[in-house]
Amino acid sequence: RKLVILDTDPGIDDAMALLYLSASPGVRLDSITTVFGNGDIDTTSRNAAYLVERFALGLRVYPGAAGPLAGERHIPALKVHGEDGLGGHGLADGFPPPPPTVPAWEHIARTILANPGKVSLLAIGPLTNLALALRHRPEIASLTREVVIMGGAFGTQGRRGNIRPHAEANFYYDPLAAKEVLAAGWPVTVVGLDVSTDCILSSAQAKALAAIGGDAGALLWQISRGYAEIYRQFDGIDGFCIHDVAAAACLVSPHLFSLCGAALDVATGGDDAGRSFVADDDRRHQQHYCDGVAAGQLVTDFIAAIERLAAPQPSS
Ligand code: BDR
Ligand code: CA
Repeated sequence: RKLVILDTDPGIDDAMALLYLSASPGVRLDSITTVFGNGDIDTTSRNAAYLVERFALGLRVYPGAAGPLAGERHIPALKVHGEDGLGGHGLADGFPPPPPTVPAWEHIARTILANPGKVSLLAIGPLTNLALALRHRPEIASLTREVVIMGGAFGTQGRRGNIRPHAEANFYYDPLAAKEVLAAGWPVTVVGLDVSTDCILSSAQAKALAAIGGDAGALLWQISRGYAEIYRQFDGIDGFCIHDVAAAACLVSPHLFSLCGAALDVATGGDDAGRSFVADDDRRHQQHYCDGVAAGQLVTDFIAAIERLAAPQPSS
């Protein structure tokens, strides 16, 4: 089983990725590290702690970066994930924040150093915590099993951005961190908008999960109403993209993806900040981005995972 640290900014699709991972037998979730992104750091950390408690996941939450490596935190005008990051229902209001602990970057570095070659990092928010871990302990790059990232868009399908025409949200929120993480010598696979945009949970599928998916299905339906409405208005989709679930699936079931090896980079300056691109300098360290996905199978697997959570557990 893969030993996984989930670095996340819950986040509607982040919550879905967490539930999916927790129901994936090939994964042993070690812990959750949080980062600003879909909300401020207190909000995303509290949301993570709330999800852990509600679904009895038994995971520790390590709060991390409150803003990017450089510059101010960007706060979008349209809050796609709602005011509270989980669809605007105030689900985690008043919920205690995670207890004080070491910062996320330090937990990431310590865990990798204590388990050389064993740890998979799944990063589904801005990459600030990973970049800080690398800055403090660069030796972790050669000791990490893999890094799977939801971010950017590298392919040729014309899918460049969501938060900006040229930029995907996770890379846009901290372009410098994304650049540093992609340049490090660890094995990186990026699941960008190229493929995550194909991974759509339809309204009918979400509704079915609400009916038969137990508490996880009910949560999924509740938190995704405003999110689905935004996809309906802006993209004409009857459903919504499960970007972060796509990245989680790349870690759990890599055979569902086709990969392209390339030198990956992110622009950090001016109007271009957050734009991801394939660099032509072939001397640079090569990483991989996904350029194809068996989206139907991925969505079927996600639904099955949520249904497993609802199934009565065999008594031991
Ligand atoms: C990514 O940005 C966030 O809004 C989502 O949770 C996902 O990680 C998609 O661009
Ligand atoms: Ca996210």
